[in-house]
Amino acid sequence: MSTYNILVLGSGGREHALAWSLNRSPLLGNLYIAPGNPGTEDFGENIIALKPEAYGTPAAWFEAIADLIQDRDIDLTIVGPEQPLVDGITDFLESQGHKVFGPTKAAARLEGSKSFSKWLMAKYNIPTAESVAFSGKSVLDEVEEYFKASDLDWPLVIKADGLAAGKGVFICQDQQEAVEHLHRIREDETLRKAASRIIVEEFMVGEEASVFAITDGRHARLLLSAQDHKRIGDGDTGLNTGGMGAYAPAPVIDKHMLQIVEDTILYPTLGAMQLEGHPYRGVLYLGLMITDEGPKVVEYNCRFGDPECQVLLPAMKSDLLEVMLAAVNFELEKTEVVMSDDHFCCVVMASGGYPGAYAKGMEITGIGDVSGDALVFHSGTRRDGDNLLTNGGRVLSVVSKGPDLRGAIDSCYREVRKISFDKAYFRSDIGVKGLKRL
Ligand SMILES: Nc1ncnc2c1ncn2[C@@H]1O[C@H](COP(=O)(O)OP(=O)(O)O)[C@@H](O)[C@H]1O
Ligand SMILES: [Mg+2]
Repeated sequence: MSTYNILVLGSGGREHALAWSLNRSPLLGNLYIAPGNPGTEDFGENIIALKPEAYGTPAAWFEAIADLIQDRDIDLTIVGPEQPLVDGITDFLESQGHKVFGPTKAAARLEGSKSFSKWLMAKYNIPTAESVAFSGKSVLDEVEEYFKASDLDWPLVIKADGLAAGKGVFICQDQQEAVEHLHRIREDETLRKAASRIIVEEFMVGEEASVFAITDGRHARLLLSAQDHKRIGDGDTGLNTGGMGAYAPAPVIDKHMLQIVEDTILYPTLGAMQLEGHPYRGVLYLGLMITDEGPKVVEYNCRFGDPECQVLLPAMKSDLLEVMLAAVNFELEKTEVVMSDDHFCCVVMASGGYPGAYAKGMEITGIGDVSGDALVFHSGTRRDGDNLLTNGGRVLSVVSKGPDLRGAIDSCYREVRKISFDKAYFRSDIGVKGLKRL
């Protein structure tokens, strides 16, 4: 059997889960992770120097990646995070004859430009919130004018067009809040950049959940539905984070609902992208609101979520590498994806203070005591000799499975409590929303 040398780009829990999953494949040759983390090291070689921050521009980083691909004879590059996809890494590497799992720059606009995705959904009748787009020269003034001049139904949602690290969306209860938010955008340089275009949209009422698919542009294989937990506090309170936990599948998306999502959202989106001349290949993440009128798109993402990836990949019975190769080679039609019938829960352990200021360098103990049935994925960790230290806001994530959601949650928290570091913080209600549905 031939094997494939693989490069994974990224350094979080998502990439640790990718490395863990790829490592189970008989098709895997050498695995490289750039830059990787202390967890990914168990499964391949970290190329620590190849981190985007070390290069002045995305283009310079892409060049360095192409050199590594040549050097190490890499057959496929799997891109973890969204930024390089939106910056066009797939186009660049493919132009040099390399294979990449992840959409092209034009296709990654599904995530990278909310005005593009709203335009596409409107054109192809894909269910989503009603919206108005603003793109003029003084876009903030235009939006302010719109709020003041029109008789509107509040609340409304203001969305910056571009990537904004989770800070680009604001739900406004009334005109005053909306105008205040526009002022905040004016004063924040990164936000202002992301907000060169602005979407104002209808507030959708319902329960949020996500559906993930791997696609070659024409055919798609559904993984599972999942729910993440963006806020820092129990009961979805407090500030937004990168994600404090996830579970899969989400009971709010039963088999019937999943079929509706496939028929009214997933395939129409793939068809639309094909018709627009930008077939979408890679992971398509559908962020959904399950409303009384059915599922509607909140947003698309062009990659796995973190921490959703940490529950989806352990739930995959099929060979991830085989499926990714099939997607890249337009052969997904011939490839089956089998998911586990079990339930999966992931709890993120963070540094106290996150998402605000927090200390680094705390010793992490107890990982060795975690049951062999559970998984620990690293995010913000660092090795110091034999010790493992905290090195970021989200430090690590623990994943457990169970025959039902309750079992998965209970066993996950049992394992989480074995791990400790100074000021460790985790939410205690991951999955509770799902339990309430049962
Ligand atoms: N139209 C909407 N109605 C209700 N809630 C929304 C709407 N749009 C966004 N949200 C809420 O805001 C969050 C962030 O919005 P999203 O479009 O996912 O942006 P991003 O993830 O890029 O920050 C969503 O997860 C959802 O909770
Ligand atoms: Mg989102």
